[in-house]
Amino acid sequence: MTVKIAPSLLSCDFSRLGEEARLMEKAGADLLHLDVMDGHFVENLTFGPPVIKALKAATSLPLDAHLMITNADRCVDWYLDAGADYVTVHVEACRHLERVVTHIRERGAKAGIALNPATPLEFIAEVADKVDLILIMSVNPGFGGQSFIERSLVRIAEADEMCRFAGVDPLIAVDGGINAETAARAAGAGATLLVAGNAIFDSADPAAALADIRSSADAASQ
Ligand code: DX5
Ligand code: ZN
Repeated sequence: MTVKIAPSLLSCDFSRLGEEARLMEKAGADLLHLDVMDGHFVENLTFGPPVIKALKAATSLPLDAHLMITNADRCVDWYLDAGADYVTVHVEACRHLERVVTHIRERGAKAGIALNPATPLEFIAEVADKVDLILIMSVNPGFGGQSFIERSLVRIAEADEMCRFAGVDPLIAVDGGINAETAARAAGAGATLLVAGNAIFDSADPAAALADIRSSADAASQ
């Protein structure tokens, strides 16, 4: 099966965001992963709707806004208005999760839900049929370049199982510490979308690094 690859721009050269996005488009990326951090849900602070709007004009790749923000319930519309194709909210940050994911879909976008490494998967069971993407965090969010948490492999397989049982087929995404080696194991466990930042942008040849991740994931996927 073909696994989708979403480069995370968190590790790219922020002074050349548009060029980096286009480089990933040429390299065959499937989605662009945009890490929105507010300095509250996570310590780090990145960018918000205006930058997403600018990227929308710079590339035709679908954009996934990974919202690591505390008030996602109240401001998903800003990200939808900016042109995000997928809006992924954290289970831990949304008091009214069902309402948020339903709203994202009603606005014509794809709804994603993310879980921190210590959050039980059961927290998404009631909305698994209402989302297009389940994002298993394989690091604690906030920074690029961290090591893959091995337990995430079990969580990917359990999320896959939960979806099969519910008769639904959202993307099972994994985010954090993905390189050619962990990509193979994540794909083997059932991941269908791999987010990679450091392994791509910290490499001398980002396009080749993306291709390496893709080929090892495809070889291992179920
Ligand atoms: C971490 C972010 C990730 C990050 C992954 O909080 O959500 O998307 O960019 O970076 P790497 O691939 O370097 O672990
Ligand atoms: Zn992310």
